[in-house]
Amino acid sequence: MRYVKFELAPGITAFRILNDAFERFENFWPIPRGTSYNFYLVRGSEGTALIDGADERVSDPFWDALESEVDPAEITHVVAQHVEPDHSGTLARVLERAPGAALLGTKRALEIGEKLAGLPSGRFREVGDGDSVDLGGRTLRFVAAPFVHWPETMMTHLPEEGVLFTCDLFGSHGASEAEFYDEDPESFELRDYYASILGIYPAMVGRAVSRVRELGPRILAPSHGALHREVGEILDLYERWASWRPLARALVVVGSQYGRTEALARAAAGGLAEGGLEVTVADSASWDPDDLLAETLDAAALLIATSTHNGRPFLGITFYLDLLEEYRPKNKVAAVVGVHGWAGGGVRVARERLESAGLPVVASLEVRGSPSEGELAEAGELGRRLAAEARERFLR
Ligand code: FEO
Repeated sequence: MRYVKFELAPGITAFRILNDAFERFENFWPIPRGTSYNFYLVRGSEGTALIDGADERVSDPFWDALESEVDPAEITHVVAQHVEPDHSGTLARVLERAPGAALLGTKRALEIGEKLAGLPSGRFREVGDGDSVDLGGRTLRFVAAPFVHWPETMMTHLPEEGVLFTCDLFGSHGASEAEFYDEDPESFELRDYYASILGIYPAMVGRAVSRVRELGPRILAPSHGALHREVGEILDLYERWASWRPLARALVVVGSQYGRTEALARAAAGGLAEGGLEVTVADSASWDPDDLLAETLDAAALLIATSTHNGRPFLGITFYLDLLEEYRPKNKVAAVVGVHGWAGGGVRVARERLESAGLPVVASLEVRGSPSEGELAEAGELGRRLAAEARERFLR
């Protein structure tokens, strides 16, 4: 594991610990391009602030990086923007080594972080939305961002340089050394990160994005992934995502054991394409869950194709339905097709679970045994109808 650092502006250093050793983020979401933990040092004439820490499992590069730039004893303020352990894991030790530093965070940051991350209450100074700290020519102004991604989260604005430290907001996965996202967008996973980490609270993300627009920063400095100087572009993207505004796309998620359900899915996908949607077909058994969520985010139409397995949808589909029930996507229409050998149930249960996730199901088709030519044609027609519904409702 290694780190990069660079000067964002005079006296402001960005550090990125590049983690290509872990296979998963939060021990679940696959990160084939790796990830990074970013933290920042801001030096004024009167004080030095550290903004965020890192996962304690990357303590070695964290300390190498920090000590390459500052003697920790010189730090006067430690800003805990978010106390999830990927940000706060090293902060208790920083506070030990910076005995004069105040710990700044929202009230809830201490409530959560005292037990979770060992943050010392005696060093804590609560800050709220609009509060600021003068470091001498460098001001830190705090911006509440609750539920982006936990309730205690805040951002930090540095108005003199137009830099906004955004914590999880605008983050991405990727262990590329690129400093800014626009240098190497292919090596970062921006959409997967949003869909899996932040997409659970879109209304709160939307509010935070509005605040960012009002502040008008020139640089967005998240705590994961590359920084952003293409500010207008990413704000537009985030506004679309946070409002679940879909593109002219369809996602077909397939759970097929022997290929018969897949044949129905392909026929329905053909109908969706004829209906003018760009179609992605995803095998529920092999697709990563964050990729499924990311494709769901952009789709106006969802088609579930499932065999029946023990009276229920096939296992990969059951997992995808769990994701839909948890993340509750909006602005999509859905349909279900499936094949069973001797007893049905998969299509019915999938339909019920889609509806319980708040997704309108406009059609379903369940076939016994190998689909006939007529049944494949019926699936194609179902796809055309689903595309027409999606266009009518969301794409006019
Ligand atoms: Fe990067 Fe929500 O922690």
